[in-house]
Amino acid sequence: MAEYHEAPANATAPQKLLNWVDNRFPLSKLYSEHMSEYYAPKNFNFWYIFGSLAMLVLVIQIVTGIFLVMHYKPDSTMAFASVEYIMRDVPWGWLIRYMHSTGASAFFIVVYLHMFRGLMYGSYRKPRELVWIFGCGIFLCLMAEAFMGYLLPWGQMSYWGAQVIVNLFAAVPFVGPDLALLIRGDYVVGDATLNRFFSFHVIAVPLVLLGLVAAHIIALHEVGSNNPDGVEIKAKKDARGIPLDGIPFQPFYTVHDIFAVCVFLMIFSAVVFFAPEGGGYFLEFNNFIEANPLKTPAHIAPVWYFTPFYSMLRATTDVMVNILSIIIAIAGVVGLLWGGFKANGKLVLLVACVFGVLLLKTFDAKFWGVVVMGGAVIILFFLPWLDRSLVKSIRYRPSWHKYVYAVFVVFFLALGYLGAQPPSAVGNYVSQVGTLVYFGFFLLMPWWSRLGSFKPVPDRVTFAAH
Ligand code: HEM
Repeated sequence: MAEYHEAPANATAPQKLLNWVDNRFPLSKLYSEHMSEYYAPKNFNFWYIFGSLAMLVLVIQIVTGIFLVMHYKPDSTMAFASVEYIMRDVPWGWLIRYMHSTGASAFFIVVYLHMFRGLMYGSYRKPRELVWIFGCGIFLCLMAEAFMGYLLPWGQMSYWGAQVIVNLFAAVPFVGPDLALLIRGDYVVGDATLNRFFSFHVIAVPLVLLGLVAAHIIALHEVGSNNPDGVEIKAKKDARGIPLDGIPFQPFYTVHDIFAVCVFLMIFSAVVFFAPEGGGYFLEFNNFIEANPLKTPAHIAPVWYFTPFYSMLRATTDVMVNILSIIIAIAGVVGLLWGGFKANGKLVLLVACVFGVLLLKTFDAKFWGVVVMGGAVIILFFLPWLDRSLVKSIRYRPSWHKYVYAVFVVFFLALGYLGAQPPSAVGNYVSQVGTLVYFGFFLLMPWWSRLGSFKPVPDRVTFAAH
């Protein structure tokens, strides 16, 4: 138990109150550990605003969500009308609803940029593996949260999007049909589905999300922030034990973040007030029509933030499975011919490749599509161990690494675009190449990330006063 501290006799009333609280709850201690004495590298740049912005959007979603639930009815006969009621009759209801729907897209924009920053500066590398892993957990929860939230307005896209995605689970061997039934709670998407998605969207997933965000920040503050140079600032401290290149988060980065929040809110409000549908990307036009189980829309596409992964699902055709089999066979032959493996290693490789090809051929392409789509997210968890580069930050990696990242980003965006379009032969071909590029980027990383001539990493961070 911490020692009891008596407030000085001349303390003011607020100081006495704080002293009273501090003797019972570590308020000042938490403030100094996480704000005024949390030393962050002094060379943070633009890319470091997205963590705080993600927290802001999380708060926006929770607050607007609380108000939406006051008027929303989780019943398949009333849900669509209750959303219309919020939009037309509830005072400021339209604003709350548009903030929540725009917030969903804003969340993904901010989080994708936040993840990209981590990728560029190697922020997932030792000692920040857990920060990254908690982040990946957050990303999975966000996807689940957005997917279930999208069913709630009970529009055509809500209904048919959920129908398509839940049916995918039926492709899992042996347990698939039962699993899909368990998720739906019925043989088709219906009232039971709406009720369970509501319950998960409103309480279960947000609880996990909040817990993971707390774990993410606690883990980050335990090891300290990375920075654009990838230099560990804790390696060089002054006599008081303060990192030479560290500055207190409060006030230096609170000011930085408040500025970012103002700019973000300007853009966010512009969308909320002038383009809440986001050109059909944030709110799909078909979702302004009530769900009709008897009328399938001509073109069903998920919301934009899922489309890269949806493209990978569609790209996994029988032809793609054959290509994957050939790639595994070639990898096996190259491995056998390469001198690096001992006899035992070669045997293991041979068995693994034969088993891999047989497995690919055993199940149909639809199942592998689901595996590819899920694997595209799961692979992110392993990034800290896939990257074997000698340095963390892209700044000191061989220059051509930048092009590898650029190709990865271009294909990821192309996959996103194509996932929103109706299927086409060319689109399918590009998606297949994009899927191979996406997985190739990660799976071949242990090899390519070590190649090339690395630049010397400075001892201290690089910083120009501004
Ligand atoms: C609700 C979503 C999230 C919130 C609220 C959040 C919040 C934060 C905050 C406040 C920081 C410190 C400030 C900064 O470095 O930007 C941070 C750092 C970090 N986050 Fe997140 N984050 C979220 C999602 C994610 C995701 C999805 C990932 C990756 C999969 C991730 C990976 C990281 C990493 C690696 C760092 C350390 C960066 C560094 O020190 O260079 N975060 N996060």
